[in-house]
Amino acid sequence: MKKYLVIGNPIEHSMSPKLHNYWIKNHNIDAIYEKEKFNEDELEKLFLNIKNKKISGVNVTVPFKKAVIPFLDKLSAEAESTQSVNTIYLENDKIIGHNTDIDGFELGIKKINYDIFNKKIFILGAGGVVPSIIYALNKLKVSEITITNRTKEKAENLKNLFGELKIVEWGEIPDFDMIINATSIGLKKDDKIDLNFSSIGKNKFFYDVIYNPKETNFLKTGRRLGNNTENGKLMFIYQAISAFNIWHGVRPMVNDEVIKLLD
Ligand code: ATR
Repeated sequence: MKKYLVIGNPIEHSMSPKLHNYWIKNHNIDAIYEKEKFNEDELEKLFLNIKNKKISGVNVTVPFKKAVIPFLDKLSAEAESTQSVNTIYLENDKIIGHNTDIDGFELGIKKINYDIFNKKIFILGAGGVVPSIIYALNKLKVSEITITNRTKEKAENLKNLFGELKIVEWGEIPDFDMIINATSIGLKKDDKIDLNFSSIGKNKFFYDVIYNPKETNFLKTGRRLGNNTENGKLMFIYQAISAFNIWHGVRPMVNDEVIKLLD
């Protein structure tokens, strides 16, 4: 039986095993997918186990998406450009790092038929998932991306990676069509972002990478002000589908049952 893993710290909350094991069973694959909490000094052992085929594939989550890079033999173009790896596999005895968060964001947006072409995008946060979102936004040909982060230096690091980015101070709100919460504010039910959205107008698109809770205060505010909203559930599902496809050669369908699995 092949073994797959998601690693992170913390990892208890991860829904990846639920999703992958559901598809593994549905497709009659002889495999198991588990979660494991890791410390940075244990990564070397993990990569030995991938090399000697004790582990067939790994998903990587916070805070290791960059930290795993030195252990890999090769990066895909997407992983290289974003300096972020969430999916690892072995190919011709080489350990490859890829990034399916990009697919996750892109396919999630396409699934809901949001017409993102030429739109002005405003991103809150500059953490682990943001390079993947920027990469996907550039692929989808948005007209401009503005980013703000409490710690401005991290936004500037992203500008070094991607070039065409505008940066505004935390607290400032530029004109936008779509706003993306990529901060961790909202993971706790009572979390509130200290930004004032009262003067932004209506009919914008509020998108939160967080999907648990289902509707963060950020999305509630957006909805109450007359905007469309969407959480990060489809992004999560599609990044998992792309990883599953790499490992098992099948793309599971997104149906109501899959969506309900994560409720
Ligand atoms: P990491 O920064 O380690 O990659 P993350 O969960 O991917 O972790 O990112 C957390 C994001 O939420 C960061 O952009 C963080 O801002 P800082 O870079 O200033 O830390 C943001 N964040 C978390 N708590 C915040 C708060 N109370 N106010 C504003 N931003 C916050």
